[in-house]
Amino acid sequence: MDPIIAATHSDPYPYYAQLRAEGGLVFYPGLNMWLASSAQAVAAVLAHPDCHVRPAQEPIPKAIADGMAGQVFGQLMRMNEGERQRCPRAAIAPGLELIDAQQVEALVSARLITADAAGLYNAMFRGPVCVVAALLGFTPAQGRAISELTADFVACLSPLSSPAQLAAAHAAAEQLSGYFIELLDDPHNHSHLLAGIRQRFAADATPSLIANLIGLFSQTFEATAGLIGNAVLALIQHPPLRSDSTHIEDLVAEVQRFDPPVQNTRRFVAAPCEIDGVALNAGDVILVLLASANRDPQLNDNPDAFLLERPNRRSFTFGAGRHQCPGQTLALSIAGATVRQILAMQPALDRLTWRYRPSANGRIALFSDWPAA
Ligand code: HEM
Repeated sequence: MDPIIAATHSDPYPYYAQLRAEGGLVFYPGLNMWLASSAQAVAAVLAHPDCHVRPAQEPIPKAIADGMAGQVFGQLMRMNEGERQRCPRAAIAPGLELIDAQQVEALVSARLITADAAGLYNAMFRGPVCVVAALLGFTPAQGRAISELTADFVACLSPLSSPAQLAAAHAAAEQLSGYFIELLDDPHNHSHLLAGIRQRFAADATPSLIANLIGLFSQTFEATAGLIGNAVLALIQHPPLRSDSTHIEDLVAEVQRFDPPVQNTRRFVAAPCEIDGVALNAGDVILVLLASANRDPQLNDNPDAFLLERPNRRSFTFGAGRHQCPGQTLALSIAGATVRQILAMQPALDRLTWRYRPSANGRIALFSDWPAA
C-alpha cells in the first residue's frame, strides 16, 4: 500500500489511520512528498496562502501545454491562484450554489436508466454532465454529445493518460469550446444560471468564461460518478439500506464523508513556510489526504461507523478554503436524485461485480453484470 494506491484499494481506511498515528504532516520519501493526513493538517494546508494548486514551474502540465486542452486548463479557476481564480469563481459560484434541488430531480428523472451495469454506467458517467449542460441551456442531444466530449477532455487531467488520449482531449476541448461559442451567441438561451454567470463575468474575458464553463463539466464528470458509484456500493454492502425508509439525502451525505470519490488532492509550496509546526520549502509537494481527514476522530465522533443520522457531520470531501468546491450542493442533489432513480428500477444489485477505475485520486467504481452461469 502507498498513499496513492490507497485511493483505489478495497479498504484504505486502516492504512490512513496508521498514517495519522505517525503524524498529521509527515514527509513520505517513497513518493518524495509530504502527506497531510489529519484533519488539522489538511485544514491548515488548504487554508495556507503559500500552498498553491499548481507547481510554479509548470502551471500547465507539459504533456498538454501545446494544444487546446492546455489552453483551457491554464484558465481554470481550479488550476490557478490570485485573480485568475478569484474572478471566475466570483462570477460562477453564486449561481451554482443556488440551483434548486427540484429542478435537478426533474432533469435526472427525465433520463431513462436501465436496470443493469450499462444503465448504471450511463447514470454515473453521462447523467450528471447532462444535468449541468441542461442547466446551462443546452438541449438533451447536445448534453449527450457534451458528456462524451467531457470524458475525452478529462482524460488529459490524469498523469496516466496515453498519447492517443491526449490527442483526443485536445480535439474535445476544441469541440466543447465550439459548443459554448454557439450557446453564448444564441438569443433564445433562457438559462438563469448562464445569464447570471455572464452578467458577473467581465465582457472582455470570453476565453476565461468558456474555459471555466468547460471546467464545470470536467469537475462534475468523475467526482459525481464516483459519489453515485460509492453510494451504490454502500447499498450493495449494507442490504438494509435498500429499504424504502432510507432517506437518500442522508445516505449520500454519509457516503461522501465515509467513502469519498475524491480521496486526495495536491498542493505545491510556493514559498518557505511553517504549517502545523513543520518547516516546508518552496518546491515541496503535499499530498492532501481528504479521505483520511474525514475519518479523523478529531473531526467526527466514531468516524469509522456508517451513520445515516450522524450529528454534526464534517467532511473534507469537497475541499476547504479558497478552492472549496462551489458545486457541492448541486453534486449532492444530482447524486441523490440519481440514486433514487436507480433504486426505483429495482436493479439486481447482488448480481453486480465491480472494480475501481485506475486513478491516483479518484475512487470511482466500474460495475459489470455477473457473467451468465
Ligand atoms: C461528488 C462530486 C464532487 C466532489 C467530490 C467535488 C470535489 C471537489 C474538490 C475536493 C475541490 C477542491 C480541489 C482542491 O482544492 O484541490 C473541488 C473544486 C471544484 N469543484 Fe467540485 N466536486 C464535485 C462536484 C462538482 C460539481 C457538480 C461542480 C460544478 C458543476 C464542481 C465544480 C468545482 C469547481 C469549479 C471547483 C474549483 C473551485 C476553485 O478552484 O475555486 N464540482 N471540487
